Amino acid sequence: MAEPSESYSCPSGTFSADSMSMSEDVRDYVFENSRRYHKYNEGRYHFPNDDAEQEREDLQHAMAMLLCDGKLHYAPLKNPRSILDVGTGTGIWAIEMGDMYPNAEVLGVDLSPIQPLWVPENVQFLVDNVEEEWLQPPNSLDYIHARQMAPTIRDWPGVIAEAYKALKPGGWLELQDLKCVTMCDDGTMAEDDICALYARTLTAALGQLGIRSHDVSRYAEFLRDAGFVNVEEKMLKVPIGTWPRDPQQAKVGLFSQHMIYDGLHGFSIRPFTHGLGWTPEEVEVFLVDVRKALLSSAAHIYLPFYFVYGQKPPADAAATAAVANNATSTTTANP
Ligand SMILES: C[S@@+](CC[C@H](N)C(=O)[O-])C[C@H]1O[C@@H](n2cnc3c(N)ncnc32)[C@H](O)[C@@H]1O
Repeated sequence: MAEPSESYSCPSGTFSADSMSMSEDVRDYVFENSRRYHKYNEGRYHFPNDDAEQEREDLQHAMAMLLCDGKLHYAPLKNPRSILDVGTGTGIWAIEMGDMYPNAEVLGVDLSPIQPLWVPENVQFLVDNVEEEWLQPPNSLDYIHARQMAPTIRDWPGVIAEAYKALKPGGWLELQDLKCVTMCDDGTMAEDDICALYARTLTAALGQLGIRSHDVSRYAEFLRDAGFVNVEEKMLKVPIGTWPRDPQQAKVGLFSQHMIYDGLHGFSIRPFTHGLGWTPEEVEVFLVDVRKALLSSAAHIYLPFYFVYGQKPPADAAATAAVANNATSTTTANP
């Protein structure tokens, strides 16, 4: 374990004027409707960063691990030395990657300095805005990961272009995201289902704030457009509730049900008030019905979870990139 450091820094110590400066107090927070938000680059991200939201993020990580049979990544990594986690949150994924790849340096970047201080010595955290020009030198990283960033990023092609630049030839970018759309394969979801209405309302609210959260299903296209090759897309179904017959899927559903239940207020209060002009009271009233519906497993609802990865063309493969570029496959799994 590394000594707890007083400040957050990147391993190379390269700071730019746009990144956190030592004199700036990145630990300042903004409070609104009893929730705490990041202060650095205030207003970029519309979910809170308080203890309740951090617990929800860690529950979401546990849900993802169950869903993926414990896989932290799908990209075919071979002895990676430099790993970047974009929007690392509580840092839980970065810390587990540090343990899994002790020969790698893992850096987690986030707007909020909410990560633990006692971490494996090959893991560090940096406060920075990933929608600005990145600090990482070109051709320096083996693997870049971004998970659950759909409700945050305004310009995916811009972020993907930065990732492409920062990766070494042959390095991998992987995006993992739930799409905020309720799906059902057996007709048990009514047209006026309140969870479906909630998902549409949240999507609209984020849209008003400049975030196209449904771009999740365009990640593979964005990667190919940016020049990535060997692009693969996998979609897994995340049931909400314990309705699946398969015990493992029912467990995933239990986790997702509680993760969403716990997160509802945080997901909604800022987007609905800032994006849609609702009053906090209107949000609370709407959420009462959403919570009731969430705890019922009557409608067999699931959310699609996309896993997309692609490779920056290896140095000797540039000539064949255009051909491989078109080779994308999609797989799905049933609950
Ligand atoms: C939903 S959380 C996901 C956390 C983590 N990736 C995970 O899967 O557990 C989104 C995180 O992205 C961070 N974030 C949002 N916009 C960002 C930006 N422009 N630059 C850096 N971090 C950002 C937020 O502060 C938050 O911690």
